[in-house]
Amino acid sequence: MEAGSGAARSGADWRLQRLSPCDPGRSSAIQMSGSRSEVGGRLGTTARAGMERWRDRLALVTGASGGIGAAVARALVQQGLKVVGCARTVGNIEELAAECKSAGYPGTLIPHRCDLSSEEDILSMFSAVRSQHGGVDICINNAGLARPDTLLSGSTSGWKDMFSVNVLALSICTREAYRSMKERKVDDGHIININSMSGHQVSPHSVIHFYSATKYAVTALTEGLRQELREAQTHIRATCISPEVVETQFAFKLHDKDPEKAAATYECIKCLKPEDVAEAVIYVLSTPPHVQVSLALTAHPLEEASHPQRRTAGRP
Ligand SMILES: NC(=O)c1ccc[n+]([C@@H]2O[C@H](COP(=O)([O-])OP(=O)(O)OC[C@H]3O[C@@H](n4cnc5c(N)ncnc54)[C@H](OP(=O)(O)O)[C@@H]3O)[C@@H](O)[C@H]2O)c1
Repeated sequence: MEAGSGAARSGADWRLQRLSPCDPGRSSAIQMSGSRSEVGGRLGTTARAGMERWRDRLALVTGASGGIGAAVARALVQQGLKVVGCARTVGNIEELAAECKSAGYPGTLIPHRCDLSSEEDILSMFSAVRSQHGGVDICINNAGLARPDTLLSGSTSGWKDMFSVNVLALSICTREAYRSMKERKVDDGHIININSMSGHQVSPHSVIHFYSATKYAVTALTEGLRQELREAQTHIRATCISPEVVETQFAFKLHDKDPEKAAATYECIKCLKPEDVAEAVIYVLSTPPHVQVSLALTAHPLEEASHPQRRTAGRP
């Protein structure tokens, strides 16, 4: 079933079937349960209305130095949250923090340098957040990367890089965020994992097969977390947002030796913008406590039809 065929998809579980980010004639998507019109309506009107309860509370956003993480951090600061944004390139987050401040947004962005491939760095970040700000109410596990290491000839170090950030860091941050919520008796916290459509379908692009495996792990980890939170009888929620192609530096890092190939990734399809994903995060956080969301968005297929040249551009 194609993302845009809303008539064929109704009720509580429409799921996008698309495999490859660059398959011709297809548009970008994030996975979501719920009908399309319902989701569109909430995003457009009531999303921000549910955000008051988060004002002045603390969100951790990993990978806030660019792309989706920077957009999410900015959106949360606009909504009045205190946001700890972490990454290795902390200078970018400092610039974003200054931008948010001069724009007069009601929240604050606190930059924190952290290499998420180091457990020590992660634990010391949580410890700093605890001592300086009390603790974490929302954890957005966004940081991630792909290296072009195929299954037949890829390097172990490339696989380790992906695994340590996409899977292990996400799991460590989740555990520490839950601990932080529990010790402060926060029962309405939220853990949001930025997954990918590659976490639901294996596309025929060898360079992202290992990456896809790490994102399948994120699918399993989010569902497992949801079950454990239920067993723990807490109202803390876990959500997985699965975008398709989003125009960021991601492909340029994947194809760091071939910028033309990277650029083609974003030319062969109508891409989502980081702000689209940020909007999805705000929607998720704005839902009332009884709503459990697994989220998706699509770039409008008509948009893609009006850019036919995109369909013939090179694949990654
Ligand atoms: N772009 C897409 O098409 C797309 C589609 C689906 C899902 N996603 C997912 O969306 C998330 C964000 O990707 P993006 O597109 O925004 O990519 P991006 O522009 O490359 O940003 C990646 C972020 O992750 C951070 N990061 C990577 N390794 C890190 C490490 N060892 N320690 C700390 N931070 C680290 C980077 O910060 P530093 O390098 O400064 O440390 C950067 O802030 C990822 O999980 C990705 O898998 C992306």
